[in-house]
Amino acid sequence: MIGVFDSGMGGLTAIKQIVKMMPDEDIVYFGDTGRVPYGTRSKDTIIKYACQDVRFLLSKKVDAILIACGTVSANAISVLREQFDVPIFGVVEAASEKAIELTRNGVIGIIGTNATVKSNAYANHINALRPDFSTVSTPCPLFVPLVENGFTDENNEITRLTCEHYLRDIKESGADTLILGCTHYPIIAPVIQKVLPEVSLVNTGAEAAVRLFEKIGKQAGQGRIEYYVSDDIASFKSAAELFLEMPVGDNVFKIDIEKY
Ligand code: DGL
Repeated sequence: MIGVFDSGMGGLTAIKQIVKMMPDEDIVYFGDTGRVPYGTRSKDTIIKYACQDVRFLLSKKVDAILIACGTVSANAISVLREQFDVPIFGVVEAASEKAIELTRNGVIGIIGTNATVKSNAYANHINALRPDFSTVSTPCPLFVPLVENGFTDENNEITRLTCEHYLRDIKESGADTLILGCTHYPIIAPVIQKVLPEVSLVNTGAEAAVRLFEKIGKQAGQGRIEYYVSDDIASFKSAAELFLEMPVGDNVFKIDIEKY
């Protein structure tokens, strides 16, 4: 059984891919909807929240954990790997390596939360593998609230204007590949693609799920997915069903994450 977590709905981008490749896998998902966003917080707070999230998933007896959150992967993965005795996968390596594979001109754009961009995690990983490539990074702090509040329709004018505002530097840089460095962003990928029509977009959560599959392979399970949130069940459920295009049934539960 795999544990997957994010600060909110973004990790569902990984769930969608896991379900496609590993339909029999049993999954426990935790979305910290009561404390989202993580990306505007300090590294210490991100680490504290991430440790609680992992402790919760371990209480469900998961065999491996996928951090389906760019912010936690970029700021806390080494602490989590040190503290917990379970295989832990993040999104940074998988997405950076996919971008390296896709780019033709060696200019890679990176967008993410403030904390992710500040960490330089994607750029460092890319440059460690390809010092000849250049990167341009822009934080997009309004994207997570837009997604969490349902401003996700591809014709949404507010989301389009916000994308145009944030993506100006990336456009000017000539990047031909863009890492959607926060797992919430693929949910508004159609709007981002309209602003950058020629650019290849890297879906971080999906790439991390592909990497997880390569590492652990198909597991025998019943394909049961349980969703846990730290705030309102109903709003998560409707947004999740819309995005995943499948029912989540009565499998959404609320927990008090502060207990972990
Ligand atoms: N999905 C999270 C990420 O990948 C969102 C961060 C946030 O909560 O600000 O970074």
